[in-house]
Amino acid sequence: MGKIVTTPDAVRSTVERAPQRGPCRRVLMASPAHFTVESAINPWMQDGSGGLNHVDPVRATEQWNALRATYERIAIRVDVIEAPPGLPDFCFAANQSVALPGRVVISRMATEGRRREVPYFEHWYTAHGFAPVHVPDTIERFEGTGDAIIHPGRRLYWGGVGPRTSEAAWEFFAGVADADVIPLKLVDPRFYHLDTCLSLLDERSALYVPAAFDHASRAVIEAAFERLHAVSDADAANFACNAHCPDSRHVLIQQGSRGTTAWLKQAGFVPIELDTSEFMKSGGSVFCLKQELP
Ligand code: ARG
Repeated sequence: MGKIVTTPDAVRSTVERAPQRGPCRRVLMASPAHFTVESAINPWMQDGSGGLNHVDPVRATEQWNALRATYERIAIRVDVIEAPPGLPDFCFAANQSVALPGRVVISRMATEGRRREVPYFEHWYTAHGFAPVHVPDTIERFEGTGDAIIHPGRRLYWGGVGPRTSEAAWEFFAGVADADVIPLKLVDPRFYHLDTCLSLLDERSALYVPAAFDHASRAVIEAAFERLHAVSDADAANFACNAHCPDSRHVLIQQGSRGTTAWLKQAGFVPIELDTSEFMKSGGSVFCLKQELP
């Protein structure tokens, strides 16, 4: 049974005591075949005049294929779930679940439209040997690895508390995953999932958007990591914190986050810049487009 850790004093030792685990070797991606923006459920989905962003489906497919090919090039296996029509956000495979060894926690999406995605993912998992675990009715919302981010090299989770995931979810999740959870409160509607404002790179390094968190949560993050980069406002808005570092070395990141990319190089990481601009029109980038499979 994992515990909930909320104080800066306890966080370093929590990380150091968490069981070790290997790097990510396999991800699940969801086809972008029906990806579009149909209604604005986060602030990024509207243009400057309040209209809905317009997705170019050809470019979206090219960008998604390039992300898939990049994973394969760095020796990560990619499984793909096909998308049914009528579910415009289906491709954001981070959100419908949290995959665990042999099991999967099935999300309770915060918005009605996205709830319909979940059974398709549950079906895929069941067919691929993962036993589904459902969140109890007392938990209003839980959006998978949009808010549950596993610590690199350790079996330990960072948990966003905000518009998409209820605080009560973490007690339950710590029990199911048998892992400690460090909950963090999100306070800015633009950073509606934890994966929009915190990117974990290796055991002691991370990127974050300081203003996205309340004071207590910021203090916990600052106590936990030796090498912490506060991304600029421009890089935060360019989804720099939605990067994915699967192996404590390569960092798949939206192109154009110059300050963050320079910091990554100087810290010894290998940034791989990708164009996810079509998905940014829906409020997502690299990290949201996949689920790490154990
Ligand atoms: N339009 C989607 C939503 O608002 C984007 C999800 C992006 N996923 C993420 N993990 N940040 O739900």
